[in-house]
Amino acid sequence: MEKQFVFYTLCYTILFHLLQHNEATPWARRQCHQVVNGYDCSDMDLQVIPNEIPNSVQILKFSFNYLPALYNFTFQRLTSLNYLDLTRCGITFMYEDIFKYQSDLVDLILIGNPLVFIAERAFSGPLALKYLSLAQSKIQSLSDIPSYNLAYLEVLEIGGSEIRSLDGLSSFHCQNLHSLQLDMNSIDWIREDDLAPLRNVHGMSISFKGNDFINIEPGAFKSLNLSSLDFSGCFSKMNFSSLLKGLEGLTTNRLNLGLYETDPNVYIPSAALQSLCKIFVTDLDFQLQHFSDLNNFPFDCLKWIKKLDLTRAHLDSLQFNMTGPSRLSHLVLDENRFKDVCSINTRNVPLLTHLSVSGNSKQLNFSSKCLESLGILEELDLSLSLVNPRGPCCNDQLFGLSELKLLNLSYGSQIFWSSQPFSATPQLEHLDFSHSYYTLNDSSPFSNLQNLKTLNLSWSNTSLTNVRIFKGLKNLQLLNLKGNTIQGGVLTQTELFKYVPLLETLVLASCKITAFEENLFKGLVHLRQVDLSENKLVKLSTSGFYSLHFLQLNYASNAIVTVDVGSVMDLGNISTVDLSYNPLVCNCSNFEFINWVIKNKIKVKHLMETTCNGTGTRIIDAELQCELPVGVLASVIILVAIIIILAIFCLVRRIRKYSRYSQL
Ligand SMILES: *[C@@H]1O[C@H](CO)[C@@H](O)[C@H](O)[C@H]1NC(C)=O
Ligand SMILES: *[C@@H]1O[C@H](CO)[C@@H](O)[C@H](O)[C@H]1NC(C)=O
Ligand SMILES: *[C@@H]1O[C@H](CO)[C@@H](O)[C@H](O)[C@H]1NC(C)=O
Ligand SMILES: *[C@@H]1O[C@H](CO)[C@@H](O)[C@H](O)[C@H]1NC(C)=O
Ligand SMILES: *[C@@H]1O[C@H](CO)[C@@H](O)[C@H](O)[C@H]1NC(C)=O
Ligand SMILES: *[C@@H]1O[C@H](CO)[C@@H](O)[C@H](O)[C@H]1NC(C)=O
Ligand SMILES: *[C@@H]1O[C@H](CO)[C@@H](O)[C@H](O)[C@H]1NC(C)=O
Ligand SMILES: *[C@@H]1O[C@H](CO)[C@@H](O)[C@H](O)[C@H]1NC(C)=O
Ligand SMILES: *[C@@H]1O[C@H](CO)[C@@H](O)[C@H](O)[C@H]1NC(C)=O
Ligand SMILES: *[C@@H]1O[C@H](CO)[C@@H](O)[C@H](O)[C@H]1NC(C)=O
Ligand SMILES: *[C@@H]1O[C@H](CO)[C@@H](O)[C@H](O)[C@H]1NC(C)=O
Ligand SMILES: *[C@@H]1O[C@H](CO)[C@@H](O)[C@H](O)[C@H]1NC(C)=O
Repeated sequence: MEKQFVFYTLCYTILFHLLQHNEATPWARRQCHQVVNGYDCSDMDLQVIPNEIPNSVQILKFSFNYLPALYNFTFQRLTSLNYLDLTRCGITFMYEDIFKYQSDLVDLILIGNPLVFIAERAFSGPLALKYLSLAQSKIQSLSDIPSYNLAYLEVLEIGGSEIRSLDGLSSFHCQNLHSLQLDMNSIDWIREDDLAPLRNVHGMSISFKGNDFINIEPGAFKSLNLSSLDFSGCFSKMNFSSLLKGLEGLTTNRLNLGLYETDPNVYIPSAALQSLCKIFVTDLDFQLQHFSDLNNFPFDCLKWIKKLDLTRAHLDSLQFNMTGPSRLSHLVLDENRFKDVCSINTRNVPLLTHLSVSGNSKQLNFSSKCLESLGILEELDLSLSLVNPRGPCCNDQLFGLSELKLLNLSYGSQIFWSSQPFSATPQLEHLDFSHSYYTLNDSSPFSNLQNLKTLNLSWSNTSLTNVRIFKGLKNLQLLNLKGNTIQGGVLTQTELFKYVPLLETLVLASCKITAFEENLFKGLVHLRQVDLSENKLVKLSTSGFYSLHFLQLNYASNAIVTVDVGSVMDLGNISTVDLSYNPLVCNCSNFEFINWVIKNKIKVKHLMETTCNGTGTRIIDAELQCELPVGVLASVIILVAIIIILAIFCLVRRIRKYSRYSQL
């Protein structure tokens, strides 16, 4: 009886240990892993610094563990730390001298910890702490952050906390501070004196994004000289006039006064905008705002403004009502409702280099010579705007844009191209005509575009039967022809690519190609990437390429069943082939190819998706028992036969010799 009991106990003990062991096994793969100069111990349920971390560690990523309180001994032995990430470690208490021995600590990240108490001397120790993030830490006041020993701080992040005012800012040494992130807090009031500590600091970025301000006292930002100031999404309770009054006297490179989609509408009265005359800003963002009258926008006193963003500002016209020319170089007018490009009066913005009118909510007529005054415009984005050129395009429309380098007409409507449609813009380097249809009046529309480097004609119903279509594109590097159906499925026009000798990237995906002429690409000496995916090719053929030394071949999603190993054998070290999503057969017909893949995994892209047809098995996991190929088998048989014959021959000679001797 007793013996039985002992036996069962023993069994249970063993079982228990086994279970425990089982539970512990995953530990093996959840060890801290090494990163450059340090260790990553994220998300391992750790409650102490593991012993495997050497004392000399410099970078320690310790997020998503559990350290409810930090003491002066928590990191004691890690005396070389300079970067410590303690994101979401449940830290509630930070006691004295936590980093007493970490004189090199520079970056300290404490995001998402429910901090209740931070001791006055919590940050003492480091000689020059530069980056401190306390974002989402439930801190209620800046005065709860001990400023002791933060004299060298450059970045302070306290976004997403519960800060209600700027009280306590004055105790910080802001001399080195260049970024103060206070977004998504509950600050509702900025008093005149609150920002006094920042008056002597130049070039700082401050974000108040997403705070629900009630008031900003007039002159609060007076004589501040910032690099950027973000007040986006701050207007649901505030009177816009009083905000701008508060900003009078400010100098800043960037000023964001935009809204977010979830914010309630704000109507900016034209009188309020007069305050802009007392704000010195170069880059101004009014995204999603409504203006009651933009005709009175004080452009005259915003002469130094360089970039203006009026994305979705509900505009149907824009007049630059001013006496002299402005210095504006970037103008973003996306997602508005202009009827015509001519509704944007560009006469007073001759220095514009970038103009974007993308995503216009209605058909955008593009009448002649609207942009004539933009002699130095480099980028014009009219994508997603259903551009209607009201006649043959684009010489009259682009008239005067002789320096244009990028033209984006993607996602437009049907366009009739005049002959030589881009003769007004001979400097074009990038032309995007994706998802737009055009009709040609001339077989070589691009013949004057000798500087063109990228041409996107994807999904544009381009017909490649016109072999002279690319004539003149001497310097073209990238040609995207995705989604243009090849008539008959066989690409035979060897002349087609002779005009683009410098081509490096060619996209012919989704063109319903079943085969192509062997020598089609032979002349493309610089070709590095060829995308033939999503076609109907049944054969992987590489003999038509000039060189296989540095070629990225994409044959994904075709109809290839077997691959001749000869076609991939010569791929260079940095070349790759993608054969994913093909109906590859995993029987002995592909034995040699599969063997090659196993030995050259690095040259095969998307190996996980390169599977045997119909099964989810990767081809490198297929179990094949194949005899040696007939050729090899034959030579082996012949070899064996020769050896046997030789052996018999020798034996016979020996026997003869022997018998002669024995006869003597
Ligand atoms: C931590 O602080 C306590 C009391 O302030 C002190 O006695 C102890 O020596 C300190 N430990 C270290 C490692 O500095
Ligand atoms: C603002 O600071 C920059 C340096 O960050 C300086 O070049 C500029 O002159 C200052 N402007 C004013 C008005 O103080
Ligand atoms: C906003 O403030 C200005 C004076 O600063 C005042 O004239 C105007 O009525 C206020 N508007 C609203 C909507 O409170
Ligand atoms: C242009 O501005 C002036 C004063 O700045 C104003 O008198 C005039 O009405 C404005 N013109 C338009 C078309 O709004
Ligand atoms: C846009 O152009 C079409 C003709 O192409 C014309 O019928 C229409 O009135 C124009 N719309 C505007 C607002 O000018
Ligand atoms: C053209 O615009 C489309 C849509 O806005 C964008 O996806 C594409 O990247 C742009 N093309 C270029 C060359 O910038
Ligand atoms: C097409 O091109 C020819 C010759 O260049 C020209 O005479 C004709 O007017 C053009 N057609 C249109 C609609 O532009
Ligand atoms: C067209 O191709 C260019 C170059 O690859 C690319 O930058 C651009 O985003 C493409 N356009 C669209 C609409 O995808
Ligand atoms: C595409 O081109 C073919 C001929 O090349 C033409 O028949 C067809 O109508 C075009 N489709 C569109 C939508 O323009
Ligand atoms: C290519 O790989 C081979 C063997 O792996 C190596 O000997 C050769 O140096 C490599 N060539 C280049 C250019 O990397
Ligand atoms: C491999 O499978 C393909 C297609 O199922 C078949 O045509 C071929 O004869 C098979 N090869 C061998 C060696 O069984
Ligand atoms: C691949 O598998 C699909 C269904 O799983 C089958 O219809 C097709 O005939 C197979 N193709 C080859 C070449 O075996």
